Amino acid sequence: MSFAFSDIPDQTGKTAIVTGANTGIGLEIARALSRKGARVLLACRDADKANEAIEDIKSGPERADLDYLHLDLANVASVRDAAEETQKEKRIDMLVNNAGVMMPPLGRATGDVELQFAVNHLGHFAFTALLLDKLAADGGGRVVTQSSIAHKGARIDFDNLDARHGYSRTRFYGQSKLANLLFAMELDRRLRAADKPVTSIACHPGIAQTELTRHMGIFGSVFGSVVGLALNTSEQGAFPALQAATDPGAEGGDYYGPYGFREMSGKASGPAYATKTARDPLLAARLWKRSVELTGIDPELAPAS
Ligand SMILES: NC(=O)c1ccc[n+]([C@@H]2O[C@H](COP(=O)([O-])OP(=O)(O)OC[C@H]3O[C@@H](n4cnc5c(N)ncnc54)[C@H](OP(=O)(O)O)[C@@H]3O)[C@@H](O)[C@H]2O)c1
Repeated sequence: MSFAFSDIPDQTGKTAIVTGANTGIGLEIARALSRKGARVLLACRDADKANEAIEDIKSGPERADLDYLHLDLANVASVRDAAEETQKEKRIDMLVNNAGVMMPPLGRATGDVELQFAVNHLGHFAFTALLLDKLAADGGGRVVTQSSIAHKGARIDFDNLDARHGYSRTRFYGQSKLANLLFAMELDRRLRAADKPVTSIACHPGIAQTELTRHMGIFGSVFGSVVGLALNTSEQGAFPALQAATDPGAEGGDYYGPYGFREMSGKASGPAYATKTARDPLLAARLWKRSVELTGIDPELAPAS
């Protein structure tokens, strides 16, 4: 049942898009898919960082087919431009919605909503919607969405998405990660109902040492080093997403995480626990409707009856 790097099947001939691939878990997902033969587009907001990541992956032993795709998930116009750019690709087999921001100072983006919800959820909602036809074209695309154990205990506060009634860095992060999971599950239900040949699968990396703690000051740096020693490296944190993207046995609606203690760490991945709230279809449908209103982008998939 558990899945590790050696289980990733050959990906030659396939194309993957990985958001937030210039560092952390996204970089390791891109590296692993590339090592297995896939063409990988690194969808990032900073060209210099993305090109550095490309050089880093290319310094490995294998021949790599990599390109930079400019994508700022905080900006719907950028999401539209990036999706337009991908139409030049012969095919897209995997979209890994990995990018994320955690606990920044209060900011607002798409739809004037709070930054974490805008980047982590709305940006990926819109990008996925615009890529669905391309993912379906070759009869078996996958959408992988990165959530977190932080979804546990979180709720969606529909009356305060813009944080005008108060902002808590941790609550808004949890809300955005719950939104990731609700979206992934609802997308799966709607794709099945529409008989569209695309699969939606969710995952989380446990707790991994990355740049995610960059807004947490000195505590973040110390916490990050401890995590790297005691819990997951960013490479280990990539396994669940790699399983979701490539395991031939993975099915729509699956949710993967690290196989270790309380899903926080582990050298392999397997089925993870999603709360009842994260699997609530009524809540997910409400979130879907609101996401269409806020982004102005509609995936045009009817709710499952
Ligand atoms: N690390 C963990 O323990 C952990 C735990 C649970 C879930 N996760 C999730 O795992 C995912 C990857 O995080 P990570 O730990 O690898 O963090 P990271 O090292 O900070 O990487 C985050 C990536 O997201 C990108 N990003 C941020 N804002 C963006 C925007 N507006 N548009 C496009 N890209 C943007 C960053 O680009 P820049 O470098 O340009 O900012 C970076 O490439 C996130 O979804 C996170 O919530 C991580």
